[in-house]
Amino acid sequence: MKSIYLKKLAVCALVWGAVACTGKKVETGSLRVIPLPQEVEEVADAAPFVIKPSTQVCYSAGNEKLERTARFLASYIKEASGTEVKVSTSTKGKNRIVLEVDKSIAHPEGYELTVDAGKVILKGATEAAVFYGIQTIYKALPLTQGQALASLPAGTVKDYPRFGYRGFLVDVGRHFFSVDYLKEIIDMLALHNINYFHWHLTEDQGWRIEIKKYPRLTEVGSYRKETITAPGSKEYDGVPVSGFYTQEEAKEIVRYAAERFITVIPEIDMPGHMLAALASYPELGCTGGPYEVATRFGVLEDVLCGGNPKTLQFAKDVLEEIMDIFPSEYIHIGGDECPKVRWKACRKCQAKIRELGLKTTPGHTKEDQLQTYFMGEVEKVINARGRKMLGWDEILEGHPTATSTVMAWTSVNAGIKSAQLNHKTIITPIMYLYLSNPRNNRLTGVNSVGRVYNFEPVADTLTEQERQNIIGAQGCIWTEWTKDSVKMEWQMMPRISALCEIQWTEPEKKDLDDFLKRLRHQLDIYTLRGYHYKQDIEEAYQKAE
Ligand code: ACM
Ligand code: ZN
Repeated sequence: MKSIYLKKLAVCALVWGAVACTGKKVETGSLRVIPLPQEVEEVADAAPFVIKPSTQVCYSAGNEKLERTARFLASYIKEASGTEVKVSTSTKGKNRIVLEVDKSIAHPEGYELTVDAGKVILKGATEAAVFYGIQTIYKALPLTQGQALASLPAGTVKDYPRFGYRGFLVDVGRHFFSVDYLKEIIDMLALHNINYFHWHLTEDQGWRIEIKKYPRLTEVGSYRKETITAPGSKEYDGVPVSGFYTQEEAKEIVRYAAERFITVIPEIDMPGHMLAALASYPELGCTGGPYEVATRFGVLEDVLCGGNPKTLQFAKDVLEEIMDIFPSEYIHIGGDECPKVRWKACRKCQAKIRELGLKTTPGHTKEDQLQTYFMGEVEKVINARGRKMLGWDEILEGHPTATSTVMAWTSVNAGIKSAQLNHKTIITPIMYLYLSNPRNNRLTGVNSVGRVYNFEPVADTLTEQERQNIIGAQGCIWTEWTKDSVKMEWQMMPRISALCEIQWTEPEKKDLDDFLKRLRHQLDIYTLRGYHYKQDIEEAYQKAE
């Protein structure tokens, strides 16, 4: 049966050239997508799998997650090719794309894809793995949009991610982005096989999540009257910025992301970056205020008081509500950029330091150690609910508990130090993976993309054992100067393609020239989806022509 079908297609190809039996032209894509799968084999002279209106996407009956994934694939196929295919549970027969879970695949996010003219079989170790497989199928389709039939090249893919943690941060504190737009961002992450959305929810310039026990956080803290017009400027724009997410809206984001196998990690940044909370509840600060939600950026000196028992209670209460909303194993509590100016002069902070017997030691002031105590107390609340604390690398300035996971942002060395201290570590250095970094945004074209692409998250100075502590990498968008979706996407794209390849693909398979060739199709997908990308990358193709 199989050989007859193949022969029939071969005859079609012979008689009509690129025209299929339906009379429509056929175009074929490539299995060499972004991120590049670990193993790809395309059989050049074999007939492709042509997607027609009679094609079915099939899943195992009773598996809701696979059913949803099958429907996603049908919608992707429609988007790319214009062809409306059916979704069904009958997996037998030809002209089908069959999705199934195969527990014999060793890697929990691993999948195997086999394409021939008669059938496409996608097997994943888990439903999440099948989801990564359908991303590959989507990106392997030519964007024919009804002008021709789309086909997948015959061949095989065997794939799995290099890192289990593939993250992306969006700061909604400096500028607010709507629930609908965050869903679009989540779709962008899904396209790049990213599995963690790090949602930076609180800042000096705005508190964005409803906390029922502390209503003033959003009544007062989610609003600022204006914003500085440029770095170092003395001018303010007079334009208010406000907005927050209700707990129900946050749960909706969690659900939307989970359907795309993305975990939302909430961040409540403490004890620094808390001015919006202090403006809402001045008694939580060392001086008692008055405070105002920040209208300029940078590292501000007013932080949560480290010696006031009310502050610790506040942090614990907030996190209890946060853990009710977010099922994520990781809960991020910041810990970055907390100046100790106020703590040094605060009676309550100094009394707490004496009570705890904290002493300055080489490399760690007694105030640093008060922060470590504070974070440690908060971590207990997180651990009590079976969750894990995540913090920025400044938590290493004290002696964080062995169970803290560190997000290394200040430098490449911070990641090395964290891994050497045996902390699970996520690599996100400001100079490579902050896609909103103004200095890097001055880079254009291939230089801009190459800066991310050529970054290797696992330093070669680490021992084999220390390397195991690097659990992944993350890209970040901080929104001081990102007010709208155009700028957001311009900063994300196309560098998120480079990011996802360092998160997913084994480094020995990486090659910038080859990546740029594959990026052409990814840019076309961005255009199709209406994503704004940094147009200067087009120069790479104009020069190559
Ligand atoms: C940070 O960029 N302050 C984590
Ligand atoms: Zn204090």
